[in-house]
Amino acid sequence: MTVSTLQHAIIKKLPLRKHIKISDFVSTGTMPIRHFNFNFDAKTFDDRFYLQKEWASAYFFALSIFLTYGEELVIETARYHRDFITDPILKQRVSALIGQEALHSKFHNEYNDIMKPHHLPVGLYRFLAEKVFEYTFLKFPQPLKLSMMAGIEHFTAVLAEYMMKHEDHFYHSDDEKARALWMWHMLEESEHKDVAYDVYQTLSGNYWLRISGFAIAFVTILGGVSLGSLLLPFLRKPSNLVSLSFWKEAKSSASLLFGYENGVFGSTTGHIFDYFRPDFHPNDHDTTAYLKYYKEKLLHPETGVLTPFFVKEFTPAVRAA
Ligand SMILES: [Fe+2]
Ligand SMILES: [Fe+2]
Repeated sequence: MTVSTLQHAIIKKLPLRKHIKISDFVSTGTMPIRHFNFNFDAKTFDDRFYLQKEWASAYFFALSIFLTYGEELVIETARYHRDFITDPILKQRVSALIGQEALHSKFHNEYNDIMKPHHLPVGLYRFLAEKVFEYTFLKFPQPLKLSMMAGIEHFTAVLAEYMMKHEDHFYHSDDEKARALWMWHMLEESEHKDVAYDVYQTLSGNYWLRISGFAIAFVTILGGVSLGSLLLPFLRKPSNLVSLSFWKEAKSSASLLFGYENGVFGSTTGHIFDYFRPDFHPNDHDTTAYLKYYKEKLLHPETGVLTPFFVKEFTPAVRAA
């Protein structure tokens, strides 16, 4: 009996396996990797990029710094598990996921570098994230890393859908490079939202392990990133602690993030916890119309938001296992 036959025999006996949903890879098709050159400049960096609110913008700056570490984990985990995937289309999509995440990480790091002259705590946050990942997440066994990868990708899919539904939020700033970076990133997070999940369900499918990965991603993203963004305005400018104008604005920043009606997390709670459904699948939340609209809006050869920065597109080959 081969290892994979044995693995499949064990997997079939796992509780809740019968509920598992996996994409139809033939209809999902292949995925590209897009290269850009943003050439970020500290002089045009807008420190109130998100709706001109200092604290709400701080959330996106903290996220931009911390997400690169999550992406490194996704890349490493996807590379490891790609070898066990036998479906040629899913394998291609894993290769494209690795390429897309590597470029997200590269360009967010470039964007994070231009935050430094604006006194954002980039060095401190990088140091903390590096230590947390080095001593905890990167030491996890591969099955837990795989489940965490699926959990992280669920959160980025939720955020991407929220951002695509609130396009106007990107247009309160003249920082067109930051706008292009976030819109491109959100487009691709939505484009590849089912890949990590399909790999997890194909190779494991254990419900409780999936929920464990979700719980770790939940604490890291909602706890760690939120704490980082909460402290960021004070680490940057301690006088904010006693600034009346800062505290006046703080309430609306909080509702932009956690408000039930329209907040990034407050309004997406149902989507976030839908992951607990045994028969959950990322594509149950259909974003095909948004993807079509954004691909046209961002990548149109003349009018695309990303066109001034676009270098090339590359589609990894489909290879039989
Ligand atoms: Fe990403
Ligand atoms: Fe992703």
